Amino acid sequence: MRLVYASESRLVEVNRRSELARMIATAQRLNADNHVTGFLLATPRAFAQVLEGEAANVAETYGRIVVDPRHANLRLLAQEPIERRGFADWSMALSEQDETNDFIFSLFGVSPEADLYDQPADTLLDLAGELAGRIR
Ligand SMILES: Cc1cc2nc3c(=O)[nH]c(=O)nc-3n(C[C@H](O)[C@H](O)[C@H](O)COP(=O)(O)O)c2cc1C
Repeated sequence: MRLVYASESRLVEVNRRSELARMIATAQRLNADNHVTGFLLATPRAFAQVLEGEAANVAETYGRIVVDPRHANLRLLAQEPIERRGFADWSMALSEQDETNDFIFSLFGVSPEADLYDQPADTLLDLAGELAGRIR
């Protein structure tokens, strides 16, 4: 199954990049153990994440994510069966909005006024897919 959520970041700017690097390393290790794959989108203010895998593994992973104080106000946007994974190559890919990919985020409508937190699941999936094609 596939789960998509968005959340408000609680990372503070001074150590956001290093926290993000630590988080993604932990996520990749745990997800590899649980056969979970997916994609994490990050902006200075928000996160959006796609989780794919067996229902029980995805549910367990989401349970861990929900209680993580590094973000808040999680919005569960989609939880649905899928025929095949869209991000099978990544235990967890990370794409952080920066100068080099800002135009791609903006193509999908992500801006400071309409951050990841304000986007529907389909838009987030399309954005993640576009970014995934570029890091492959
Ligand atoms: C934005 C975000 C994404 C996360 N993604 C994952 C994930 O993909 N898989 C996972 O097992 N945990 C994920 N987590 C949860 C943390 O990795 C988990 O809480 C961590 O193992 C415990 O925190 P620690 O680094 O203080 O030990 C995520 C947390 C946040 C805030």
